Amino acid sequence: MTTSRSSAMESAMPEPITAPPPMTVPPFSVIPGAQVQHTLQGQERQIVDLVEATYRLHAAGDSVNPPSYFLRFPDRPTARIIALPASIGGQVRVDGLKWISSFPENVSAGIPRASAVLILNDHDTGYPFACLESSIISATRTAAMAASGADWLSRHRSRPTRVGFFGTGLIARYIHTFLAATGWSFDDIGVHDLSAESATGFRGYLQQTGADARITVHDSPEQLIRSSDLVVFATVAGRPHVTDPAWFDHNPLVLHVSLRDLAPEIVLDSANIVDDIDHCLKADTSPHLAEQLTGNRDFLTGTLHDVMTGRAELPTDRPVVFSPFGLGVLDLAVGKHVYDEVTRAGQLHVIDDFFHELRRYG
Ligand SMILES: NC(=O)c1ccc[n+]([C@@H]2O[C@H](COP(=O)([O-])OP(=O)(O)OC[C@H]3O[C@@H](n4cnc5c(N)ncnc54)[C@H](O)[C@@H]3O)[C@@H](O)[C@H]2O)c1
Repeated sequence: MTTSRSSAMESAMPEPITAPPPMTVPPFSVIPGAQVQHTLQGQERQIVDLVEATYRLHAAGDSVNPPSYFLRFPDRPTARIIALPASIGGQVRVDGLKWISSFPENVSAGIPRASAVLILNDHDTGYPFACLESSIISATRTAAMAASGADWLSRHRSRPTRVGFFGTGLIARYIHTFLAATGWSFDDIGVHDLSAESATGFRGYLQQTGADARITVHDSPEQLIRSSDLVVFATVAGRPHVTDPAWFDHNPLVLHVSLRDLAPEIVLDSANIVDDIDHCLKADTSPHLAEQLTGNRDFLTGTLHDVMTGRAELPTDRPVVFSPFGLGVLDLAVGKHVYDEVTRAGQLHVIDDFFHELRRYG
């Protein structure tokens, strides 16, 4: 191979000196829930694509996603606040922190269990440049990853037409919205919740959507599971309460979003897919209990990314359980998307002079 004269000359020429743009402190903005919701509404397909692209970046190593930190309180044992720091590369190129609390007793007082903020930090200066209401971002990315899982994990089997929602709060509602908006339709929708009020509320939501399906509220968890080919767990159970593997004899696809519902015996009888192995095998999730029981991770089939890239194959003669721990990089990707859209619409609420002490010696 010969090198052309002009390209040899080009390589001998000094690089033109282009000064890097001056580093400046970015303005700080606050994005309230109404703006977040307005931005994300109707974008379900786009957000599933964004979540899948983020899984690809994460699998390629273009992310930093340390373990979540769980802040717990001796005086409030059911409550927790989780910190999810993360950094994402690619075109998103942002760092940040999701700070999300779960106070299950809120629900009986009529306010949502979870509340959250997301802080975005500038890649070059480290400065925080936005604080976003983030319970909607969190529910959105959770529903998007569930919809993505439902799609990829059912490609090798006949597509489920009977869905069962086990635990019917806000996350169940978002997951149903995402399934419906990404092309799923069901003949039967089963509903089960310990709280009759939640089950009735969720049925009301389903009826409002005009869902063309038979809706059945099951008092018995066994009936719900046995009559569903797609089972969505979205409870707030802290330890396994579904223990009989025989309930899964029909080999359903299980979206185990609440992570701690299934006894390890059920996990061990199933093909198990997670989003990130090290993340998911922590904090007493059902896969973590299975690891503690067996002393190994042989029961894991792989990650969702492994399925997306054909590296993991799924059986049809066993249940398939997807246990997504939920990665901070997903919140960052969705949060940055919201920030960009609000900026593009010229509707960013900038807090003037948020960073004030900017000269080193005054
Ligand atoms: N994996 C992830 O990334 C991720 C992300 C967000 C939320 N979540 C989880 O999703 C779950 C649901 O969140 P939410 O905001 O909808 O909560 P929520 O409080 O609004 O609803 C939970 C519902 O589950 C019901 N429930 C509790 N225990 C039950 C049981 N044993 N059997 C049947 N029903 C039961 C409650 O009565 C309630 O109606 C939580 O566990 C949350 O941690 C997971």
